[in-house]
Amino acid sequence: MTEGPVILAIETSCDETAVAVLSKDSILAQSLYSQQEHASYGGVVPEIAARDHQARLPAMVEDVMQKSGYSLKDLTEVAYTHGPGLAGCLLVGHYYALGLASGLQIPLRGIHHLEGHIMSVLSLGSGTWSERFDALLPCVVLIVSGGHSQFVEVTRQKYTVVGETQDDAVGEVFDKVARLLGIPYPGGAALSKLARGGQVVYTLPKPMIDRSDGTMSFSGLKTASRLLWERLLKEHNGASDEVWQQLRADFAASFEHAIIDTLMHKIRAVMRLTSIRHFAVVGGVSANTTLRNSLNAWSEAEGIQAYYPPLVYCTDNAVMIGIASQVRYALGAHRDEPNIRLRLQLQAPIV
Ligand code: KG4
Ligand code: ZN
Repeated sequence: MTEGPVILAIETSCDETAVAVLSKDSILAQSLYSQQEHASYGGVVPEIAARDHQARLPAMVEDVMQKSGYSLKDLTEVAYTHGPGLAGCLLVGHYYALGLASGLQIPLRGIHHLEGHIMSVLSLGSGTWSERFDALLPCVVLIVSGGHSQFVEVTRQKYTVVGETQDDAVGEVFDKVARLLGIPYPGGAALSKLARGGQVVYTLPKPMIDRSDGTMSFSGLKTASRLLWERLLKEHNGASDEVWQQLRADFAASFEHAIIDTLMHKIRAVMRLTSIRHFAVVGGVSANTTLRNSLNAWSEAEGIQAYYPPLVYCTDNAVMIGIASQVRYALGAHRDEPNIRLRLQLQAPIV
C-alpha cells in the first residue's frame, strides 16, 4: 500500500465515461468507455450521453476500485470534472461524486476539464505528480480538442490564456470536414488516416497566419473545405471508385496540411512572444501524427522542449482529472480557491 492521498477521479463532461484511481505518484487503475451511440447522429446527443453516464458509472467505479487494490474507505478525496462540458453530463458526474464523497465523509474536488487536459502530459515521467508538474513549468500549452483551441501559459501561480480561436475549435473542424466525406463522428482520427494515402494538391486558406499572436479562426477554412468538396463532387460526377478514392485522400491531405500548417504558424508566433522554452500540446487533436511530426522538427530546430500526452490520454479520460486533483492536493490548493483562470469557466460553485 502506498502512502499519501488516494484519489478517485470521474470524468463525464461529454461522451466518454471515465474513472481512475491515482496515488501520489502512480495510476493505480483506470477505466474508460467511449459512447458509440452518437455516431449516426453526426454529433453528441446530450440526453443520450447523460443517461449513459448514469447507467455506467456505478459498475465502472466498482471495477476500478477492485483493480486498484484499495477499498472505498481508503480514499482521500473524490475528484470530478466540474466543467466546461454538456450540462446534463456534468451533473451526472457531479452528483455521483458528491454522493460518494458525502457518504465516505471525504472532500470533493471539482476540476476544470481544460486543467485536466493540461495535466495529461504528466502521465509520462516519474516522481510524484507535483514533482512532474514542477519539472514541466513554465510551459506554454496548446489545447486542441473538439470544443477548445487555446494557448495557455502555465506557471506555478496561474494559467493565462495567451491566444484562442474566435470561432470553431480545431477538432470540431476535423469532425465537420470528415462528415463531408461520410466519416462518422468523431471523424478526426479517421480523416487523418485517410490523408496518409493522399497528396496535398488543393490549396485551402490558412487563416490568421499573418497575425503575430495566438489569435486563431477556423470557420473560414471549414467553409472553404466544404465549397471545395462540393466543387469536386460536381466536377467528378460519375467518376470511377478508384478515382473517388484518390480524390477523397487528396482532399483529406490538403485539408490536414492547411489546418496543421496554420497551427504551426500560430505556435511559432506565440513562442516568439515569450521566453518560455517548454511547449506542450494536449487534447484530442494532439494525437494527430502530422501535427506531432511538424512539432518535433520545429522544437528540435528551435531548442524547445516539446511535451505530448501518450495517445491514450489525448482524448477525454479520468486519469488527467486525477492528476490535476493530486497536483492541487500537493500544492495545498483548497476547495474554495478559484479552480482555473481560463475563459469558458463553468459558473457552478466548487463544492
Ligand atoms: O479532447 P477530446 O477527447 O474532447 C474534447 O474535450 O473536445 O477531443 C476530441 C476531438 C475530436 O474532435 C476528434 O475528432 C479529435 O479530437 N481527434 C483528432 C485525432 N484524434 C482525435 N483530430 C485529428 N487527428 C487525430 N488523430
Ligand atoms: Zn476534452
